[in-house]
Amino acid sequence: MKLFIDTANIEHITEASRWGVIDGVTTNPSLIAKEGRDFEEAIHLITTLIPGPVSAEVTELNADKMIVQARGLAKWADNVVVKIPMTEEGIKATSVVSKDGIKVNMTLIFSANQALLAAKAGAAFVSPFVGRLDDIGQDGMEVIREIVEIYQNYAIETEVLSASIRHPRHVIESAMAGADIATVPYKILKQMFRHTLTDVGLDKFMADWAGMQKK
Ligand code: G3P
Repeated sequence: MKLFIDTANIEHITEASRWGVIDGVTTNPSLIAKEGRDFEEAIHLITTLIPGPVSAEVTELNADKMIVQARGLAKWADNVVVKIPMTEEGIKATSVVSKDGIKVNMTLIFSANQALLAAKAGAAFVSPFVGRLDDIGQDGMEVIREIVEIYQNYAIETEVLSASIRHPRHVIESAMAGADIATVPYKILKQMFRHTLTDVGLDKFMADWAGMQKK
């Protein structure tokens, strides 16, 4: 499973790029607003830090306006993927721009039916929001499993990008469910490195090693 980082924070992306395990970046208007940087400047910078797909979201709601904006965003860098929300207008726009060869990440997916429509419209990625489904008492991971099964049944090439990841267990469950990608906030990526027994084990190795040096 590929790992994307779900942030627009340049410092975090810079550090994560040095790990060598991050395959792409997802942003959204909320994440861009949180950083207080110019949208285009932030995306340019991010595309130079991570060579993989970098999602930049349209902010228009009407299909014709989304199409114009999507074509503009796609020109910012070769690895920009245009994020389009799952609405009727979004599906219209995705159908048009994906035929032009623009890669679309259809976002705000909360059901397998929405993912089926997105795939039929030509989206390269679908982003089901696991955490937000869990928040309202639904099973977010079940939606990932349904989408993976449907796409496998019909050899659909659209990639399933597990989004709205809230804890490290969501990453494991996404991988077990067969998601192609999980987009993970920086804090949760950092948690993935850690295990108490790793820390305890390393402390013991270092203590034993230091003890031997004194002999
Ligand atoms: O990239 C969009 C998605 O991951 C949002 O997550 O935590 O705002 O539900 P969250």
